[in-house]
Amino acid sequence: MNISATPLPPYLGFGLGLRVDHYESILESRVADLRSKVNWFEAISENYLVPGGKPLYYLDRVRRDWPVVLHGVSMSIGSKDPLDFDYLKKLKALIARVEPPWVSDHLCFTGVGGKNLHDLLPLPYTEEAIRHVADRVTQVQDFLGRRILLENVSSYITYRSSEIPEWEFLSAVCERADCEILLDVNNIYVSSFNHEFDPRDYLAGVPVARVRQFHLAGHMNHGDYIVDTHDHPVIDPVWDLYAEAVRRFPNVSTMIERDDNIPPLGELIAELEHARHIAARVMAEAA
Ligand SMILES: [Fe+2]
Repeated sequence: MNISATPLPPYLGFGLGLRVDHYESILESRVADLRSKVNWFEAISENYLVPGGKPLYYLDRVRRDWPVVLHGVSMSIGSKDPLDFDYLKKLKALIARVEPPWVSDHLCFTGVGGKNLHDLLPLPYTEEAIRHVADRVTQVQDFLGRRILLENVSSYITYRSSEIPEWEFLSAVCERADCEILLDVNNIYVSSFNHEFDPRDYLAGVPVARVRQFHLAGHMNHGDYIVDTHDHPVIDPVWDLYAEAVRRFPNVSTMIERDDNIPPLGELIAELEHARHIAARVMAEAA
């Protein structure tokens, strides 16, 4: 299949991560009302890979009324271990079921030597790593028959072997593999704080045409470092960076991730409204 000939995914608006805590609230809501506020959902692929059972029941119910994109955490695209085609087969079956507008995972590795650390670990930003990851992305895209999106991760370490900044690495991998980008604005902020770079340089270094989705999230600031916890509301400096991101990458679907300390759905909808207002203001200024 010629991946480069496949159509680009649509703009979806403003969405939320699909979380167990909100299943009932979503299903009890009036669809038209909720769809005007939450235009789409992002489901964690790994939560729906087992056939039968409640997770797929809820996913199917939500999918009836909303676009659902799939977001994975275990592709380990940067690892030296062989690609896990058993996982990819299950993912492909889930894609056939959900028909997501796009599928994403992270630009990272999650383990090596068959050991899974269950964390999203950064890669060294080298030409060798670009070649390695781009080749694996090409294999994954050929297997799935579609482009994937790669997300920038938060990081707490850097490698002495890195030759270029992270944004150049992300851009080079995606250009070479012809894949797309899920830009996590909070992750850029977290890593810029931890590694002391200007987050605006990051935005300026990413190709506009490849960015399909934004993530926003909260984090925990420990004073001299930040941990990306997804358990707090988005902070003002990240909202400011989001405004900058919308200025550079207009009409990119935006979504808020909350994975811990999950509030009622209404609270996240209010936060999503804030994103919507910022994007509208920036777009009006740019018009
Ligand atoms: Fe994210």
